[in-house]
Amino acid sequence: MGADRQRWDPECYGRWAAYVPELGRDLVGLLDPRSGERVLDLGCGDGTLTAHMAACGCSVLGVDRDAGFVKATRQRGLSALQADARHLVGPKLPAGSFDAVFSNAMLHWVPEAADVIGNVRRLLRDGGRFVGELGGAGNIAVVRQALHQALHDRGINAALRDPWFFPTADAYHRLLKAHGFQVTEIRLFPRPIPLPGHLSRWMDTFAATFLDGLDQATRQAVVAQVSQTTAPQLCSPDGVWTVDYVRLRFRAVKLG
Ligand code: BEZ
Repeated sequence: MGADRQRWDPECYGRWAAYVPELGRDLVGLLDPRSGERVLDLGCGDGTLTAHMAACGCSVLGVDRDAGFVKATRQRGLSALQADARHLVGPKLPAGSFDAVFSNAMLHWVPEAADVIGNVRRLLRDGGRFVGELGGAGNIAVVRQALHQALHDRGINAALRDPWFFPTADAYHRLLKAHGFQVTEIRLFPRPIPLPGHLSRWMDTFAATFLDGLDQATRQAVVAQVSQTTAPQLCSPDGVWTVDYVRLRFRAVKLG
């Protein structure tokens, strides 16, 4: 499973992907964290948004599967725990102990969405909020298709390396409802994002599972092919790459 093999480097992330938490700031607005509330930041990354929520006066715990991200969040003086969203159990995460669970740009890395939503439900008190944003149906379709094609051309099964889960709004709504949530808001919308560098940097940061284990020459050829074939759609004449992101944003409340 590709998602398990995705690795993060907090330094590279800060350099090439700072727009991810930046664009998540208004999602914190949708959460509307109140002073004294207990909030879990699921997939806290480098802790940028965890810090933003803490500054609102709530008590936030960051959770991430990646040890480097947990360390980076702790270095900001915040509480963080290394845990996998599919297995959020243990004495540090008691059932019903959070007023809200927040998640930005992480849920699409975990195809076992039903397990994650079930765990979120268990952690929330009755009436608690689950607010999140993930890649939705059609997200990064141009790059994804080009990655699949470039691997296919070399006899490599890209489906086995593809870590992403990009649901439709209807499918995610059904999942939330089936797990005892009332969905108060859910919408899918395009959000093309200009990158701070070349698409190859984006691939190094986010598409490593497609490239892992390939010899250097094959890796370079795949990156070159993907860049070449997507350039007409994604690269402007002055060399700015814009990736075709599609967001799925939701707010749901745990029914008692
Ligand atoms: C995103 O939608 O945030 C995303 C999805 C896959 C790779 C990188 C980013």
